[in-house]
Amino acid sequence: MLRTASSAHRRCLSALLLLLPSLAAAGDGVVITQADYQGLQAIKHDLSDPYGFLRSWNDTGLGACSDAWTGVKCVQGNVVAITLPWRGLAGRLSERIGQLTQLRRLSLHDNAITGPIPTSLGFLRDLRGVYLFNNRFSAAVPTSIGNCVALQSFDASNNLLTGPVPPSVVNSTRIMRLNLSYNSISGDIPPEVAGSSSLVFLDLSHNKLSGHIPDAFAGSKAPSTSLKEAITGSYLLVFLDLSHNSLDGPIPESLLGLDKMQVVDLAGNKINGTIPEKLGSLTDLKTLDLSGNALTGEIPKSLSNLTTTLQAFNVSSNNLSGAVPASLAQKFGPSSFAGNIQLCGYSASAPCPASPSPAPSPPASPAQMGGTARRRRFSPKELELIIAGIVVGALILLALCCMLLCFLTKKRPGAGSGKQTSTTKAGGSGGAADVESGGEVGGKLVHFDGPMAFTVDDLLCATAEIMGKSTYGSVYKATLEDGSVVAVKRLREKMSKGHKDFEAEVAVLGKIRHPNLLPLRAYYLGPKGEKLLVSDLMPNGSLSVFLQGQYSSDVIDCSARQPIDWETRMTVAKGTARGLAFLHDDMAIVHGNLTSSNVLLDDNTNPKIADFGLSRLMTPAANSNVLTAAAALGCRAPELSKLKKASAKTDVYSLGVTILELLTGRSPADTTDGMDLPQWVASIVKEEWTSQVFDLELTRDADADAGPAGDELVDTLKLALHCVDQSPSARPDAREVLRQLQQIRPGPSEEIKANE
Ligand SMILES: *[C@@H]1O[C@H](CO)[C@@H](O)[C@H](O)[C@H]1NC(C)=O
Ligand SMILES: *[C@@H]1O[C@H](CO)[C@@H](O)[C@H](O)[C@H]1NC(C)=O
Ligand SMILES: *[C@@H]1O[C@H](CO)[C@@H](O)[C@H](O)[C@H]1NC(C)=O
Ligand SMILES: *[C@@H]1O[C@H](CO)[C@@H](O)[C@H](O)[C@H]1NC(C)=O
Ligand SMILES: *[C@@H]1O[C@H](CO)[C@@H](O)[C@H](O)[C@H]1NC(C)=O
Ligand SMILES: *[C@@H]1O[C@H](CO)[C@@H](O)[C@H](O)[C@H]1NC(C)=O
Ligand SMILES: *[C@@H]1O[C@H](CO)[C@@H](O)[C@H](O)[C@H]1NC(C)=O
Repeated sequence: MLRTASSAHRRCLSALLLLLPSLAAAGDGVVITQADYQGLQAIKHDLSDPYGFLRSWNDTGLGACSDAWTGVKCVQGNVVAITLPWRGLAGRLSERIGQLTQLRRLSLHDNAITGPIPTSLGFLRDLRGVYLFNNRFSAAVPTSIGNCVALQSFDASNNLLTGPVPPSVVNSTRIMRLNLSYNSISGDIPPEVAGSSSLVFLDLSHNKLSGHIPDAFAGSKAPSTSLKEAITGSYLLVFLDLSHNSLDGPIPESLLGLDKMQVVDLAGNKINGTIPEKLGSLTDLKTLDLSGNALTGEIPKSLSNLTTTLQAFNVSSNNLSGAVPASLAQKFGPSSFAGNIQLCGYSASAPCPASPSPAPSPPASPAQMGGTARRRRFSPKELELIIAGIVVGALILLALCCMLLCFLTKKRPGAGSGKQTSTTKAGGSGGAADVESGGEVGGKLVHFDGPMAFTVDDLLCATAEIMGKSTYGSVYKATLEDGSVVAVKRLREKMSKGHKDFEAEVAVLGKIRHPNLLPLRAYYLGPKGEKLLVSDLMPNGSLSVFLQGQYSSDVIDCSARQPIDWETRMTVAKGTARGLAFLHDDMAIVHGNLTSSNVLLDDNTNPKIADFGLSRLMTPAANSNVLTAAAALGCRAPELSKLKKASAKTDVYSLGVTILELLTGRSPADTTDGMDLPQWVASIVKEEWTSQVFDLELTRDADADAGPAGDELVDTLKLALHCVDQSPSARPDAREVLRQLQQIRPGPSEEIKANE
């Protein structure tokens, strides 16, 4: 299927950023080697190219390594990447691809290529990423893939592959992602694959696999001794999808030792035995789907320990019995439990008998759970969960990628181009950072602690869409080849500090971790002084957008904003205060530019403050520009016009404005009669029209459960006005604001948050 339309508005990050004049212009000037030239010619010859994308592969090879040949990237006259997804290519992939001995990335996904996956891929010792999904490759996965000792990611999902899973597919100690889903692969799952100590994602769903799931999963390891183990053994499987095969036998014991597991999908098999009690100790689990199997016994009580983290749970269509633990029954609807004749307590039609002795209670409708049918169709909710799981996992995967690359390049000094210098691992207490210098481009990539990493190449080859611009720079949504998504902020070079100061400051910011602060995951310093900051992408955007209802362009009806209830608004206010209090008290850092547009919201509308301390990375001139911009938006404390220096007290003023936005639903940029938001609120309160300041949505739901009770609105308003007091010394500190907000409306989430 050709998906050029959907990708047309996306561009490579490097192209958008105009970061890479060296790549955008004429390669590195080295003419392609004869072997690589012939390899490419053979590939072109065997593919059919109905849309003419390969017409540029026309000259005698002089252009091949100067970016004239579509989708070909070279270093020192050797092809290192072939990137031709969504090009409508058919025909076969030539065995002579084995001549491209330096090939690192082969990306041909979303075409219509037929025939076998070339055995000669086994000659490519540098191959790191193979992306062949959504094609028509047939025959078995070649065993020779085991020779690719650098392989990190192999995705041949949604093809017509048959034969067994070759155990050698995990021969590479760097393999992190294996996706062979949606094929017709048969036979047993090799114990080597389950036992791989480097796999983070394993997706073998929708095949014809049979036999037991091997009890060979590699759980937590003893502290590692060698560098290799430290790198390959420090991460564990987080994503396991074996659904829709013909697997039987029990849920393997060793699976329960994988305590980083986030997604376990075994649906639509013939798995029998009981659900193990120990599953309740996988405390990161977000998705657990055991539906459509032959499981017996009760749902263990320990699973209720997972209720808060679990986002999807399904044990329907098994042979389970007894009572469903109450918290699970409450969180998940009847369709997660239906089709178990002896299961009770999950819906009114399947009540548990009053007496403790279990008696079979036939449900009203013995549901006909078809279960397995939907091929490559997920409900939006499932999709969301899967994507969330994948994104989180992919971040971990990426972190691994970088570490592994470090290891790889260290082992082979001098490989590749002259620019590809060795890598180092710089460690600081608490904020261990992995440094990759080089790539094909030069520059330096530093990863901070956290489940995210990628190489320079991965980052700069990401497709990017601009999300916003500010005085400090532009923010992009970057999608990496493996589908994970990150937010990338490009700082304006002229406005940011010089390398040395910048690195010292960013190292401090990169260590900060708090549930209400958006963590900085990595930064990149380009050879020409380009500076990129990488952080998690928050799918719900910013608070200002959330309040004003300007939803992303994918949502067609922009006016259809859901009302935001008081409970949600208070969660945002408390989270923002909590993040700010941590920043001030524990980190001694001033945010400097807190506004509702850098309070971002995660999936559960928990706030995460972004851009904290950013001013430390910028020149004083840039910072005074930002203050001027903030003044125009009405978010700025009045004393800043004189002092030009942000402080904890000016942050609290901004927090007060944010709370006023939550209360009034008004943007601080909307001035009324020449008054900014605090002045406007104060003027109304003075004239005792207090109730008029509140967002209509709030006064309307005063009686609802999630609506404001008693004096909550007025008390919060008083607190916010206290924060925007003209005199800095009269303002409370952020910790006190948090305490008072918690007093006004104690939330169920308080304890959970306190533990994080
Ligand atoms: C090769 O292809 C490029 C791009 O399609 C075109 O500009 C160029 O004229 C072609 N050269 C020859 C010799 O056909
Ligand atoms: C995979 O590794 C095993 C053991 O290290 C080795 O015997 C085998 O030859 C390798 N397979 C391939 C195809 O390289
Ligand atoms: C595996 O591939 C399928 C089909 O291409 C895709 O839907 C799924 O998200 C992939 N799984 C992982 C873990 O990447
Ligand atoms: C599971 O099924 C197999 C046959 O597929 C059977 O031999 C085994 O006893 C069953 N185990 C349980 C616990 O029912
Ligand atoms: C689940 O939580 C209970 C306490 O609520 C605890 O006693 C038990 O050990 C936990 N189970 C697991 C498997 O973690
Ligand atoms: C379901 O389990 C019960 C015992 O709990 C057993 O008697 C019954 O035969 C099982 N039914 C199926 C279809 O496996
Ligand atoms: C649980 O799985 C069954 C198929 O086995 C499906 O019909 C049902 O919708 C699923 N329920 C949920 C809540 O995902």
